[in-house]
Amino acid sequence: MRMCVVGSGYVGLVTAACFADSGNHVAAVDIDAAKIERLRAGHCPFYEPGLEEMIAKNERAGRLWFTTDMAEGVRGARVVWLAVGTPPRADGSADLSMIERAAVEAAKALTGPAIFVIKSTVPVGTGARVERLVAEVTPHRCPFVSTPEFLKEGSALADFLRPDRVVIGADDPAAGDVIADLHEPFVRNNKPILRTSRAAAELTKYASNAYLAARISFINEIAEICEHLGVDVNEVRRGMGADQRIGHHFLYPGVGYGGSCFPKDVTALASFGRAAGADCSLLDAIHARNLAQRVAMVARIKARFGARLAGRRFAVWGLAFKPQTDDVREAPALAVLEALLASGAEAAVYDPQALESTRRVLGERVTYCQDPYDALPGADALLVMTEWMEFRSPDFERMRAAMKSAVIFDGRNLYNLSTMEREGFEYHSVGRPSVGGGRG
Ligand SMILES: NC(=O)c1ccc[n+]([C@@H]2O[C@H](COP(=O)([O-])OP(=O)(O)OC[C@H]3O[C@@H](n4cnc5c(N)ncnc54)[C@H](O)[C@@H]3O)[C@@H](O)[C@H]2O)c1
Repeated sequence: MRMCVVGSGYVGLVTAACFADSGNHVAAVDIDAAKIERLRAGHCPFYEPGLEEMIAKNERAGRLWFTTDMAEGVRGARVVWLAVGTPPRADGSADLSMIERAAVEAAKALTGPAIFVIKSTVPVGTGARVERLVAEVTPHRCPFVSTPEFLKEGSALADFLRPDRVVIGADDPAAGDVIADLHEPFVRNNKPILRTSRAAAELTKYASNAYLAARISFINEIAEICEHLGVDVNEVRRGMGADQRIGHHFLYPGVGYGGSCFPKDVTALASFGRAAGADCSLLDAIHARNLAQRVAMVARIKARFGARLAGRRFAVWGLAFKPQTDDVREAPALAVLEALLASGAEAAVYDPQALESTRRVLGERVTYCQDPYDALPGADALLVMTEWMEFRSPDFERMRAAMKSAVIFDGRNLYNLSTMEREGFEYHSVGRPSVGGGRG
């Protein structure tokens, strides 16, 4: 089938590549000319394992192409996927201007009827509202379907090609059938395609993300209680997670969640939930606890080194909001770095993938290192901010020798307390007693 994906970011490119890979002919549109140029030159504009190869293969086969020209993108398309950003406004609600603009531009350029599918995460009622906007600018019939995207950056292809479930919210059953058929190749392992109302599909995405964020904030609150009581949160976490009703996933204490989804989705859900008349105090608390984790890390560092950090140098391992991505949107590492720099500190940073994306945010205010050990010389402390695999078993002797003082603040609880004591580090983590110095 001929289709068009509007928005060539994380969700749009994965959607375009996977539908092209299952035999469709897909135009991927973006307003960012530099991004389209990079794609045409065979480069994926961000790091996502396997995606560049899949794009190249389908481009060569003539099933996938890139354009900034909406008219070219939607010409002959029977399905238009909307995958543009829905960033937070200052008050936490979702900014829908990009999705409205993209939908209207695509509709104006249509050459015939088309099904519009909203892949972006949008508040309940958006599909119905944008469908009405579109009806004003095109004579063609354009039913709107909501198919929220559940992929995770870092395993996006696997998530799209083998999803746990596909949720298709359609108030027009025939349009829903077309979109369900397009997903059939990805659910041959008997995973469900769930047909719902459009509004329920929109809400399912927010409820899923808010629940996962809630688990992280919950264990972070337990971690703080542990710190006050001198208990090791790891022991508590393991005991909790062994209960089959609870499980271990998303119960890892640390410096908090980040990324382009959890933070904004929790606040947006609270915003439109409250506007509808619901009490959303639990959602507010999830968000507040997450921000508190960053503040606590900076406070821990200042308790150790003093409020003024001029003359202090910190090594930072990990910048991306999680491993296997170069995405630094809402990354705790950048928030903590900003706070340390504002207090006069210097920093040398390393991340296996996110150096360039960080440079676009922090510019030359920090020193970028191509090797984790290059960040260590002269460091008063190392901050571990992302749980990349390569940080899990480092050469502690080499680290100790390079650093000015053997101090680690671990925002991801990567190391055993006994290992840290044995290796001679002063070690501060989250929800566990500090060792090897006793402070923090
Ligand atoms: N990133 C994720 O892991 C993820 C997962 C699930 C859902 N989502 C949701 O999917 C949506 C997109 O997220 P993303 O991370 O892919 O965003 P992104 O910022 O990576 O990509 C969005 C793209 O849309 C383009 N764009 C904006 N307006 C346009 C227009 N009028 N015409 C054409 N292109 C336009 C931008 O230039 C950008 O390249 C958001 O609502 C997000 O919440 C994201």
